Amino acid sequence: MHENTKRVLVTGGAGFLGSHLCDRLIAEGHEVICLDNFFTGARSNIRHLLGHPNFELMRHDVTLPLYVEVDEIYNLACPASPVNYQYDPVQTTKTSVHGAINMLGLAKRTKAKILQASTSEVYGDPTVHPQTEEYWGNVNPIGIALLL
Ligand SMILES: NC(=O)c1ccc[n+]([C@@H]2O[C@H](COP(=O)([O-])OP(=O)(O)OC[C@H]3O[C@@H](n4cnc5c(N)ncnc54)[C@H](O)[C@@H]3O)[C@@H](O)[C@H]2O)c1
Repeated sequence: MHENTKRVLVTGGAGFLGSHLCDRLIAEGHEVICLDNFFTGARSNIRHLLGHPNFELMRHDVTLPLYVEVDEIYNLACPASPVNYQYDPVQTTKTSVHGAINMLGLAKRTKAKILQASTSEVYGDPTVHPQTEEYWGNVNPIGIALLL
């Protein structure tokens, strides 16, 4: 392995953002482990990478422990659109909480750098547009944020 080559874990790697990130990392010469449970992601998003010597696809759920050796982690695993994340709120919460805890634990053990994706849903139904990092949001803590 070249000294600048990193082994990178992309969770949610078969999703919209993750699959493009996998493309970019492979193009830069890195080794990529693409992890996905295919809830909203699709094999077709990463089909062109299957068989690439630096690309490994892993069907796995981030709510479960994972033991791999990596240098960097991008934790993008979570359904992003309301229709998908409201389908099973308990599983969505597990994905967000247990998934983040599992990935942070993996980062701690391997001393990997980690990026945790968030969602603009943390702002609820915002009264400020666009939202800055200082804005705390307008969240309904006893119901869904978005009235459909
Ligand atoms: N797309 C955007 O504009 C945007 C903006 C801000 C933040 N985000 C955040 O970035 C992340 C990715 O967004 P996206 O648009 O690529 O969504 P996406 O739904 O296309 O991708 C999410 C991927 O995670 C996978 N996944 C879901 N639950 C999983 C689990 N428990 N274990 C393993 N894999 C799981 C899905 O199968 C899918 O491939 C999300 O957390 C989203 O909230 C997205």
